[in-house]
Amino acid sequence: MMQILDGKATSLAIEAELTEAVQARLDQGLKRPHLAAVLVGDNPASRAYVGHKVKACARVGFVSTLVEQPTSITQSELLSAVRELNDNPDIDGFIVQLPLPDHIDDQEVLEAVLPTKDVDGFHPVNAGKMSLDLPCFLPATPKGIISLLDRAGIDTQGKHAVILGRSSIVGTPMALLLRRNGAPGNCTVTICHSRTQNLAEHTRRADILVAAIGRAHFVTEDMVKDGAVVIDVGINRIPDASKKSGSRLTGDVDFDNVAPKCSWITPVPGGVGPMTIASLMQNTLQACSNKDA
Ligand code: GUN
Repeated sequence: MMQILDGKATSLAIEAELTEAVQARLDQGLKRPHLAAVLVGDNPASRAYVGHKVKACARVGFVSTLVEQPTSITQSELLSAVRELNDNPDIDGFIVQLPLPDHIDDQEVLEAVLPTKDVDGFHPVNAGKMSLDLPCFLPATPKGIISLLDRAGIDTQGKHAVILGRSSIVGTPMALLLRRNGAPGNCTVTICHSRTQNLAEHTRRADILVAAIGRAHFVTEDMVKDGAVVIDVGINRIPDASKKSGSRLTGDVDFDNVAPKCSWITPVPGGVGPMTIASLMQNTLQACSNKDA
C-alpha cells in the first residue's frame, strides 16, 4: 500500500516545536533567533526560495533580514557584505542564496561565512565535520529528508539507498547522512551521477531512492523496485496550459506512474521543499542557542 510522505504536514509540526522553543527563550529573557539571507540579482526561483525562508521566520517568531544585492556586485563587495553579517552580533545565522552570478567565486564567498553562523552548512569546516560525524550544521535539504524518514517511522537500517546526483548541497551530504551509524542511517549507499553506466540497474536495487538531478520526470516506473521509498528532491518548471501562469512545478520522478509501486513517496510540491525550510529554521535556532552558554 502506497503512502504519501507529507513534508508539508511534517514541516508544520517542526514549526510548532520551533515556535514553542522561541517562546521558552523569551520567557527566560533570551533573544529571538535572527536569520539573514543574502540574495544577489533577480533570479526568480532564488527570490521565491528566499521569500519562503523569510516567511517561515515570521511564522516561528524569528527576526529575519533580507540583504538584497545587485547582479553587478563585485567579489570584494560581496565579501564585505558577508563580513558585516559575521560581525553583527544580533545575527545568529545567515545564508547566501545560490546560485551566484558567473563572475562571482562561490567558494570564496562560502568560505568567508563564519562557520558558527553557517546555517546552510556549506562552509568546509561544517562539511568536514559532517563527514566525520561530528556536531555541525547539516545542509537543510538532506537534513530535512532525514527528519521526514525519521518522523514517518521508516526503517533505514541495513537498507540499500541509491542517490541520483552528487551535488555538494544534496547528493553528497545525503549519502553521508544515510551511511552514518545512527537512526535514520546504516544504509548501504550508492551514488549515481551523469557518468553512471546502466543507471536503471542501480536504481532498481534501491530500497530508498533519492532523486536529486533536476530533470522533470526522469525517474520512471521501470527504474523503481516494488515497495521502494522514493524521495523526490526535484523542483522543475514545466509547461502546463491548464495553469494561469502557463507552467507548474514538478519533481524528478514521474509521480503518477511511479507512486503505485512505492511503499512511500514524497509529492512535489509538498514533500522535500517545506522540510528544507523547516531544517534551516532548526539550524538557526541551534546557531542562536549555541551562543547562550
Ligand atoms: N540553492 C539551492 N539550495 C540552496 C540552499 O539550501 N541554500 C542556499 N543558500 N542556496 C541554495
